[in-house]
Amino acid sequence: TENQAFSFQIISWYRANPRELPWRGMDNPYKIWLSEIILQQTRVAQGIPYYYAFSEAYPTVKDLAMAPESEVLRLWQGLGYYSRARNLHNCAKYICDKLDGRFPDNYKDLLLLKGVGSYTAAAIASFAYNEAKAVVDGNVFRVLARYYGIETDIATGKAKKQFEALADELIPQQNPGEFNQAMMDFGARLCVPKNPDCANCPLISTCFAFQKGLVKDLPVKINK
Ligand code: ADE
Repeated sequence: TENQAFSFQIISWYRANPRELPWRGMDNPYKIWLSEIILQQTRVAQGIPYYYAFSEAYPTVKDLAMAPESEVLRLWQGLGYYSRARNLHNCAKYICDKLDGRFPDNYKDLLLLKGVGSYTAAAIASFAYNEAKAVVDGNVFRVLARYYGIETDIATGKAKKQFEALADELIPQQNPGEFNQAMMDFGARLCVPKNPDCANCPLISTCFAFQKGLVKDLPVKINK
């Protein structure tokens, strides 16, 4: 099917263009959670040293739970949006006190953690537990809107539902985490907002936006 061809090409591109990131190739839910919270409002290059600092200071969720909040906030200095750090610390205590130290192990339960939304829950569920739940953010909106020619305004809840449903169809049951990593990287490095590298895109011959000359017009975002 066309959908399988899309997923296959995205994953092939990713395997040929791997980005070495410290949290890649890992299935430790705590460390993945840490990396995803850091990356929520922070660029990858800026987040890397913080990821190392936190995983060194707090190698396990229990270490984080037992740390004084002042120390956690000090380590977070420079990243901004301090509610992320407070949520991390509170979630760690909750996991240790109420869940017996067992990290939530599926998308639905991960969503119950404060500070964990659909994107972060899907990232942890797919990377740590091989659950076929797709991440959807601005990068994914852009890639799918262009490839499939979707004109729904991406600032709407309708778009979020529509793109999540499509992405959940595209994500393979085998290695779903690899597909999510691939979508993140493809949108961040090739199918970028301005001047995407269409000349080197493996999907060029079947990309709706490229074939119709609409790359600049997709995704549709109506500013309110
Ligand atoms: N942005 C959010 N999560 C990411 C991840 N796991 N890798 C790269 N960029 C990301």
